[in-house]
Amino acid sequence: MRLRGRKGIREALEAQPDLIILNPAAYKGKWKELFGNDRPIHVELGMGKGRFISQLSSLNPDINYIGVDMYDELMRRAAEKAQHSREENGGSLDNLKLALFNIEKIEEIFDSNELERVYLNFSDPWPKKRHARRRLTHFGFVRKYIDILNDDGQIHFKTDSRSLFEFSLNSFADMGLRMRNISLDLHADGPRTDLVMTEYETKFHEKGMNIYRVEVVIGQNALNTHLHQLELQEKRDSEELKKETPED
Ligand SMILES: C[S@@+](CC[C@H](N)C(=O)[O-])C[C@H]1O[C@@H](n2cnc3c(N)ncnc32)[C@H](O)[C@@H]1O
Repeated sequence: MRLRGRKGIREALEAQPDLIILNPAAYKGKWKELFGNDRPIHVELGMGKGRFISQLSSLNPDINYIGVDMYDELMRRAAEKAQHSREENGGSLDNLKLALFNIEKIEEIFDSNELERVYLNFSDPWPKKRHARRRLTHFGFVRKYIDILNDDGQIHFKTDSRSLFEFSLNSFADMGLRMRNISLDLHADGPRTDLVMTEYETKFHEKGMNIYRVEVVIGQNALNTHLHQLELQEKRDSEELKKETPED
């Protein structure tokens, strides 16, 4: 996405230092200090105009959120959206930061184990084979996410691109990662009200396109919780089955 810079945008960004972080590398390993608490940190890589991160941060005050993108104009728009959503829904902006940065160097702004969740929403598909390394689910990026995610770490990935989804599932599988809640048509039964839609998602869903989604379990705690949930589900299922099948 190419956006032409507008006069004064930089000054507008600089005027909101509590929300917009123009030098995120300075906070590597120190994001908790910046937020002023120990709450988990969830990050959207490539937040665009910021609707998703703005709504999530409004809904979940106990989680800290960081939206990352590399364009000044998108920072400005995302900041505007965040302010509006707080005016409409109340709450504070204390649990949200917008970071201007190029994801290719993500390891320069987050330290090992610093994050609990990475959201990748409608990342650029880079369809040409020779550009595969630029896809945000390429092995080279996933390796970095694994490092910056903690024991509860997960990656949540959504896309409209079947080919990027296929590529990504293979990339996660090649790395031996556990995947769950895989969906090839997320809104097949109507929009999922338990999940926040992004700008791109709304547009593609309205056009009748399928939305693909997967959650990738990275941290050991996250994996244990997942396995425990599977066991509980298994118990519930077998109890249901017993009720339905009367004994002789
Ligand atoms: C297709 S848009 C999706 C925006 C939003 N997540 C959504 O779902 O509506 C992809 C976004 O990723 C950002 N992006 C792509 N590559 C990036 C990079 N290397 N560093 C930072 N942002 C990047 C783009 O600027 C753009 O805003």
